[in-house]
Amino acid sequence: MEPLRIDVPTPSRHYAITIGNGTLEQLTSTLDAAAAPRRRFVVSSPTVWKLHGERFAAATSAEPILVPDGERYKQLATVARVYDALIRANADRASTLITFGGGVIGDLAGFAAASYLRGIALVHVPTTLLAQVDSAIGGKVGVNHPLGKNLIGAFYQPLAVIVDPSVLGTLVRREFRAGLYEVIKYGMTSSPSLFARIGQSRKKIFAKDPDTLAAIIGESCRIKADVVAADEKEAGLRRILNFGHTAGHALEAVTKYRRFRHGEAVAYGMLVAAELAVARGILADDHRQSLASLIASLGPLPAVADLEVGPIVEAMQHDKKMVAGTLHFVLPTTIGATTIVNDVSTDEIRRALESVGLKKG
Ligand SMILES: NC(=O)c1ccc[n+]([C@@H]2O[C@H](COP(=O)([O-])OP(=O)(O)OC[C@H]3O[C@@H](n4cnc5c(N)ncnc54)[C@H](O)[C@@H]3O)[C@@H](O)[C@H]2O)c1
Ligand SMILES: [Zn+2]
Repeated sequence: MEPLRIDVPTPSRHYAITIGNGTLEQLTSTLDAAAAPRRRFVVSSPTVWKLHGERFAAATSAEPILVPDGERYKQLATVARVYDALIRANADRASTLITFGGGVIGDLAGFAAASYLRGIALVHVPTTLLAQVDSAIGGKVGVNHPLGKNLIGAFYQPLAVIVDPSVLGTLVRREFRAGLYEVIKYGMTSSPSLFARIGQSRKKIFAKDPDTLAAIIGESCRIKADVVAADEKEAGLRRILNFGHTAGHALEAVTKYRRFRHGEAVAYGMLVAAELAVARGILADDHRQSLASLIASLGPLPAVADLEVGPIVEAMQHDKKMVAGTLHFVLPTTIGATTIVNDVSTDEIRRALESVGLKKG
């Protein structure tokens, strides 16, 4: 199959996402076509480089800048290590920084690119499903602070995003599934056909059939690209992509980011939002049921029965997505459409959390 090209026309920059099996082997020509400056540096992690670094070799002659990629390394100290390496290599304004890894590498090295010399060219080559459908697109880069996730960052669009689904062959099943929940999110917010396709192609998806993956990644990227092109800085429409994230972030925070992969927490968050929507009479219960079945069909989620509702509600009230004191909730109205409400009471949230299995209290 020919690679798929999706344009991302944001106000600050127009760029393309190129998706296809074998796009890694064509990196150099894609980078040239995107007018990426010729001094090219790659930032990756030892894990990803060991698995896939040789496929990258032709794109850059410089030694890779390798930094660890666990969530706890997504912090300023790791960004400083990237600056150190760039300075030692005399990276100048005619340089391109290529990120090659999951969302942690993309976010932290993207932030280094946004700030080094007040910004050098950036290209993302994402290697997890989550990064391929979500974090590499839209220009959010940044790191965590000890007091909260993603508190430090910038909007900084890349010159290009290059997605080769074949790298997902080495991704462990749990990470892969975590990315799939974000694909379900796009289906729920924007595309009944994508939603249906995940259910119908589940076997081929888990077998990592290249064309099947390229198709669902492509459809997800198109949705995210359309949303960020219309609302780059998250003033309005882009908030729909927070579907499932209000409760999801709270679950992650309360369990100190140890129990859930981000996508798993979002899966619960989507179920909570669907319960809320049904209770308000704006979503049919059989649609909630379809969502619950699709999520269940991908495999088990970490347990929540031991988590009390109270601390989760509390954590939601501290979310940085709070705008002027009200909690915005993205609620589904059907499969493929949402509405944003800002008058959800804590009682409603409590009931919805209990419905998905959390403990009273
Ligand atoms: N910028 C955004 O808009 C945005 C959106 C969503 C999430 N994020 C961020 O993304 C991060 C999560 O990203 P993630 O889920 O990709 O996690 P991650 O970057 O931690 O990667 C998960 C694991 O997969 C490994 N890995 C990566 N590619 C692999 C491959 N091809 N084969 C085998 N192993 C591989 C990594 O070494 C790591 O251990 C979070 O920090 C989150 O805040 C950012
Ligand atoms: Zn997410």
